[in-house]
Amino acid sequence: MKPFKIAPSILSADYANFEQELKRLEETGVDYVHIDVMDGHFVPNISFGAGVVAAMRPYSKLVFDCHLMVSNPESHIADFARAGADIISIHAEATPHIHGALQKIREAGVKASLVLNPGTPVEAAKNVLNLVDQVLVMTVNPGFGGQAFLAETMDKIRELVVLREANDLDFDIEVDGGIDNQTITIAKEAGANVFVAGSYLFKGDLKERVAALKAGLDA
Ligand code: DX5
Ligand code: ZN
Repeated sequence: MKPFKIAPSILSADYANFEQELKRLEETGVDYVHIDVMDGHFVPNISFGAGVVAAMRPYSKLVFDCHLMVSNPESHIADFARAGADIISIHAEATPHIHGALQKIREAGVKASLVLNPGTPVEAAKNVLNLVDQVLVMTVNPGFGGQAFLAETMDKIRELVVLREANDLDFDIEVDGGIDNQTITIAKEAGANVFVAGSYLFKGDLKERVAALKAGLDA
């Protein structure tokens, strides 16, 4: 069993106080900071770029898990690596050159993660699983926080677990979207081990909600 990691999404944090928000996160004993990068093209919204990641980097020792919801992600990899990303996630749907883009992430010294939208089959990941440190299975359609968890995506997690075993690979499986103290148990049982949560964590007492997510993992 791979170790469980909680990855709070700062998409739901206070954008005017990232320094303080990072400090608060560090105190709750989470593992990652999930940073949702949106370009207004691959998804409708615009959020933060590499400059914001670089500005936050001195204030946190947590793993920076950068989720690029951008078209042509390969042209942004160097910037995010330089900004201090520890993991870069790119969407299978965002480039015709997914193999080369994943290679580029690893060449930059960063962990490579491949994202599958709810409508994208595991088949799209099959030929590059040897190049990834993580597969991110979207449990909502990307673009917005606060959407409902799509339980049908759990089948893909089960498929990935089988493929990982059969090919003697070691990637993490992350879930993103609609994760709360109930759905985290469903995703864990399917085989995920990294759990992104945005609105659930930030719309209540952060410490209590991190504890509730951890309790969901023990359930
Ligand atoms: C959605 C983002 C998520 C989002 C999750 O496009 O990738 O990381 O912040 O938010 P919640 O946990 O509110 O669904
Ligand atoms: Zn995300």
